[in-house]
Amino acid sequence: MDRRTFLTRLAALSGAAASITLPSASGQTPTSIGAIDRARTSNPLLAGFDNAPGDLDFPDLFIEGKLPEGLSGIFYRNGPGQHALAGERYHHWFDGDGYLHRWQIGEGRVAFKGRFAATPKRLAEQAAGKFLYPASGGGVPSREGISGPDGINVANTNLLPVKGGLWGLWEGGSALRLDPVTLEASGFVSLREDFDGAPFSAHPRVGEDGRIWNIGTMGKRLAIYRLQSDGALDAAKVHTIPAAGLIHDFLLTCKSVVVILSSTRVEGSAADGLFNSIKGRPDLSMQVKVYDRESLTLIREAELPAGYVFHFGNAHEDDTGTLRFDMAYSTNCDAVQAMRAPMLGKFPESSSQACLVTLPGKGAPKLEPVKNDIEFPRINPLYAARRHQFVYAAAQSIPGKSLWFDAVAKLDLDTGKQAFAYYGEDWLVEEHVFVPKRGGSGEDDGWLLGTALNWKLQKTALNILDARDPGAGPLARIWLDQPLPLGFHGQFVHGA
Ligand SMILES: [Fe+2]
Repeated sequence: MDRRTFLTRLAALSGAAASITLPSASGQTPTSIGAIDRARTSNPLLAGFDNAPGDLDFPDLFIEGKLPEGLSGIFYRNGPGQHALAGERYHHWFDGDGYLHRWQIGEGRVAFKGRFAATPKRLAEQAAGKFLYPASGGGVPSREGISGPDGINVANTNLLPVKGGLWGLWEGGSALRLDPVTLEASGFVSLREDFDGAPFSAHPRVGEDGRIWNIGTMGKRLAIYRLQSDGALDAAKVHTIPAAGLIHDFLLTCKSVVVILSSTRVEGSAADGLFNSIKGRPDLSMQVKVYDRESLTLIREAELPAGYVFHFGNAHEDDTGTLRFDMAYSTNCDAVQAMRAPMLGKFPESSSQACLVTLPGKGAPKLEPVKNDIEFPRINPLYAARRHQFVYAAAQSIPGKSLWFDAVAKLDLDTGKQAFAYYGEDWLVEEHVFVPKRGGSGEDDGWLLGTALNWKLQKTALNILDARDPGAGPLARIWLDQPLPLGFHGQFVHGA
């Protein structure tokens, strides 16, 4: 199947695809930046949704505390950084052009580089001085036609280090090839000609053997990819599924690829952006689809209570066919819509609960709540696809108390024990990534690295915690002399 045929078939199977493959009609009313600007003057927390400042280079940042012995490498992060342009603001937090962080740590120093992901969309809009293309959250008039998904690719969600290289990830189109040192972009990754421009999601899973699995969804089509450790496509298969609208993450075990459809469906027109067409359906169970990770064929299905999941931690299964995983589960099936709030100068009211899920080979699934008000779960990557004990997540120290996460949680899935690094009410805490200690012993022998925005000081800092004892607080805090917008995901690459 050639590329055009593939994309045409994807598009034909979903009204949602129309928002990606075709420019929406012009004449829609863009959100005025006035609403958030008015809120911003009295609410310094909204610095988290300002535009990123553009290129930043700091060769030697101020370090509060002490860098841990043995921590050496580069911490990359990604997130939306261009929410507004020329008097228009996107309607959804997820739409802004990617802003890339590169924190280089070693020899007692930390250097920072910040760059926007130079996608064709960004380059064209910056040259024009205004938004030109439709957005997934709608609201921005389409002023230019696009030839396919990568015409509106913002590469703003995650990063994938691949054999000395770096890919910037979105989920509606291809990966963007980045220089791991300069962060310069050099075109989209072509996995295979017939998949050029096809959705490649932002949460690839690296297996215990170094191979990489990922999914891509558009409408009723689910593509499952398997890549070799060097990023070369090894196999891919396209399945037909119900049009859930957005499948942001999935799970990998040593045997299976586990894809979970939240209780959403694409209903109605996507002419003003895909997200506008995603309707919460609390009457529908979440659907679990298990695919053999070698043949990529469907081998098992199950159901879970209605809800929505952006992110999963990790999954593993035993010889009896029992599959276990953890997830950040929301009972709000309209969680995608809740993420519009920041563009209106409000914080989202939707929250997620850490849950442990057991799917026995036979019998009913079991869902056990672990901790309320968490998101961005991460694990020790050395335990990917096999049995793990610990999950780390951004958390609210007192559920429901604060507008955003103010802590980092360490959740022990075996004992139920929980530990917290409480940053204080001045902080908006983001995802923290587990970095295993070289030659370490034990699953929690390593560090947690993550950014947080101090809204009182209007400064962003990178924080380093001892994962064995996060309650002791940061071992080191590396300060930028300015705020950066709240982002999504990061990856650490060990130094030589
Ligand atoms: Fe994500």
